[in-house]
Amino acid sequence: MLLLIKLTSLVTTMARKFFVGGNWKCNGTMDDVKKLVKTLNEVEVPSEDVVEVVVSPPFVFLPLVKALLRSDFAIAAQNCWVRKGGAFTGEISAEMLVNLGIPWVILGHSERRSLLGESNDFVADKVGYALSQGLKVIACVGETLEQREAGSTMDVVAAQTKAIAEKITYWTNVVLAYEPVWAIGTGKVATPAQAQEVHVGLREWLNTNVSAEVASSTRIIYGGSVNAANCRELAEQADIDGFLVGGASLKPEFVEIIKSATVKSSV
Ligand code: 13P
Repeated sequence: MLLLIKLTSLVTTMARKFFVGGNWKCNGTMDDVKKLVKTLNEVEVPSEDVVEVVVSPPFVFLPLVKALLRSDFAIAAQNCWVRKGGAFTGEISAEMLVNLGIPWVILGHSERRSLLGESNDFVADKVGYALSQGLKVIACVGETLEQREAGSTMDVVAAQTKAIAEKITYWTNVVLAYEPVWAIGTGKVATPAQAQEVHVGLREWLNTNVSAEVASSTRIIYGGSVNAANCRELAEQADIDGFLVGGASLKPEFVEIIKSATVKSSV
C-alpha cells in the first residue's frame, strides 16, 4: 500500500510539466511585439513534453500575437472581468478571451492587487468565473517586504490561496504563481531556499486544505526578477515548477529561462 502511495505520488509529481510564462505587462508597440514574436518563433527550445511556454501580451496585441506566434507556445491575457461581460466600460470579459481563442489568463497579479485595489475575494471571484468559462488561470500570490519582515509570509499567501480555494472546485486548470512583491521588477530575486520554502508551504497548504492529489499535481511557479543567470538554480528546487517572468521575458534571455526546464530532468 505504502509503495503504491509512493508510486502514485511520484507519477503525479512527474506529471508537473515545467511552465514558463512571460508577462509582458504594459509594454511594447506593434513593432516591438512583432520583433519579439519573431525571436521566439526562431528559437530552439526543449520539446512541449518538457516545458509549457505561455506569453502574455497586453490585450490590444492579443490577436496579433495569436496570428503570428508559433503553435507550440500558448497565450495568456493579463486580466479579465470578474463576471459575464456587459456594461463594464474598459473591461475585457472571459467570454471574449474564449471567443478569441486565448486559453490562459493571469489573475491576481500583485500590480493589480496593490495599484488597483483587487482584494483576495475579488481575485478569487475572477478565478472562479474564468475557470467556469473554460479559461486556464495563472493565479498570483505573494507578500510585500513589510509582511515578510513581520514574519507573515505564509499567512499572507495562505489567505490569498484560501480565498481562491473557496471559489473553485477543481485545480486542473490552475497554475499558482508565487511572486514576492519585493522581488518584482527590483532585481532582488528570492534565494532558491526562500522560494522553495514558500512553495513547500503552499503545497502543504493545498495538501491540508484541498487534497493530496491537488497538492502534488498543481504547478507552483516562481516570479520576481527571474533572469538567465538565476533561473537554473531556482529550477533545481524540487517544488519550483517553473517561472512567471516579467522584464526578462521581453529580452532574448527569455529563451535561456525556457531552457532551464531541462534542469528538472537531471535533479
Ligand atoms: P520581473 O521578472 O520583472 O521581476 O516581474 C515578475 C512579474 O511580475 C511577473 O508576473
